[in-house]
Amino acid sequence: MSASPLIIAIDGPAASGKSTVAKRVAAALGIVFVNSGAMYRAFTWWVLENGIDPADTAAVLDLLARTEFTCGEENGVGTIAVGGVPMTRSELASTGVNGAVSPISAIPQVRERLVAEQRRYATDHGVAMEGRDIGSVVFPDTPHKFYIDASPEVREARRRAEGIDDSIAKRDRIDSSRKTSPLVIPDDAVVVDSSEMGVDEVVETVLAAILGRMG
Ligand code: DC
Repeated sequence: MSASPLIIAIDGPAASGKSTVAKRVAAALGIVFVNSGAMYRAFTWWVLENGIDPADTAAVLDLLARTEFTCGEENGVGTIAVGGVPMTRSELASTGVNGAVSPISAIPQVRERLVAEQRRYATDHGVAMEGRDIGSVVFPDTPHKFYIDASPEVREARRRAEGIDDSIAKRDRIDSSRKTSPLVIPDDAVVVDSSEMGVDEVVETVLAAILGRMG
């Protein structure tokens, strides 16, 4: 019997640097980087593309039932297609999606569906998956849990520097206060505050903790 794939869970608030860190950690370990936020963003884009009001939960759920997600991999990075349309950064980071993704991802049935896709993907790929509930809900049994934080000022400045119009404070509020799978720090997570750290240092800290646990 082969060993189960390695699962690294990396959570944190918007623009904490968790994507960059997860991507680098995945490359160092030869596993796939998966941005679970991209899956919530992809479905949000699909809702808007279909002319559905994100506040109309019944219509959103009706669309969800008719929607197929295809999760793949390209050069060590997870890819997603929704309704057969491969997603690129321009769709995923659009202002419309930024504004609607938190309410859409607060709908329990949307989470249930995407969590199932995330677990299925990790049955045959080692993953460094980043998001909000990866250690707390999606993979509670992995010993490799990280919470990457940074001050709100640093996070706002990082998004501005990327030229992205994002309502970080508002998303944080919704993501942390929603009923289903809010953003929390798992009890057994290693917390890294990246406000005053460079990316290299954060990546080294995470890798050292993983390798330490693997013995
Ligand atoms: O990581 P991100 O900022 O691109 O995520 C976009 C939104 O998706 C975020 O505001 C909340 C939601 N999300 C979630 O609810 N659960 C996850 N595991 C990942 C993202």
